[in-house]
Amino acid sequence: GKSKIYITRQIPSEALEKLKDECIIAQWKEAESTVPRNELLQNVKGIHGLYCLLTDKIDKEVIGAAGPNLKVISTMSVGFNHIDLQTCKEQNIRVGYTPDVLTETTADLTVTLLLTVCRRITEAVAAVKDGKWGTWSPLWMCGTSLKGSTVGIYGFGRIGIATARRLKPFGVKEIIYSTASGSKPEIDNELGSRYVEFSELLEKSDFLLVTCSLTADSTGIFNNNAFNQMKKNSILINTSRGEVVEQNDLIDALRSGKIRAAGLDVTTPEPLPTDSELLQLNNCIVLPHIGSATIETRTQMALLAAENLLSGLKGTEMPGELKL
Ligand code: GLV
Ligand code: GLV
Repeated sequence: GKSKIYITRQIPSEALEKLKDECIIAQWKEAESTVPRNELLQNVKGIHGLYCLLTDKIDKEVIGAAGPNLKVISTMSVGFNHIDLQTCKEQNIRVGYTPDVLTETTADLTVTLLLTVCRRITEAVAAVKDGKWGTWSPLWMCGTSLKGSTVGIYGFGRIGIATARRLKPFGVKEIIYSTASGSKPEIDNELGSRYVEFSELLEKSDFLLVTCSLTADSTGIFNNNAFNQMKKNSILINTSRGEVVEQNDLIDALRSGKIRAAGLDVTTPEPLPTDSELLQLNNCIVLPHIGSATIETRTQMALLAAENLLSGLKGTEMPGELKL
């Protein structure tokens, strides 16, 4: 018979159509609210496949509630820190994710955030609206230039590399990176980039872009210790996961001038409460986790997640399988 699946949100209709033919679907149909934990635990009972998002915590309890039929968990995201991979491995549950399709879009957003912070765009827009545009003035609303700068990238995977490619034409002086998998000679040839130790990345970068995945090693790595080593005029951009940054340490660093400014597409928690101190700082801008948010990319992510789920149910090769 048909496989039973649970989908944790409203998803692009193209992907839903693909799944409808082959599966019996139960779904949390809301577009903009997460499935309540109890509802999730109830609805996964007996399913063969789970289609989830990065906002769903898929831990041992959820996997246990699903029971022994569960063959595949497919997340519509490139990040997978919300899934208990150890339990999946132990229970032979395959895991699908969506690399590659969102790389370029997320790199676009990383550059957007960098330029927005560098050129103080949100302050400038607010100044116009608030009647604070006195006259053109030589030193008013001055930001900082990319040309001649040293750009550091923490996490030089697909997204980090795609971001580096975009920045090269801005005339940056040097691209340095630190990443778990070590130096990438082919990319270095192409871009003139260079692998460095984390401490050198902190000390040399004018702009430090965080594009890593969240792992035990990257959790909290941008903490007081790191901010103390960074340049006083440096700018931090994070489009990976909020947990890579010790947010209270960042707030302190932005307040006390240890670094110049920050641009964050990810925070802890998400959504960021509106009374967060981060939102009171004029040298910090926060976006609501929109790195991959274009219609085209979200459609491709949804379709890839659907293909992963269907392949996992059939026991065939998945186009985006996470090696456990
Ligand atoms: C977005 O953060 C993703 O993991 O796809
Ligand atoms: C993930 O962060 C990637 O590099 O694609």
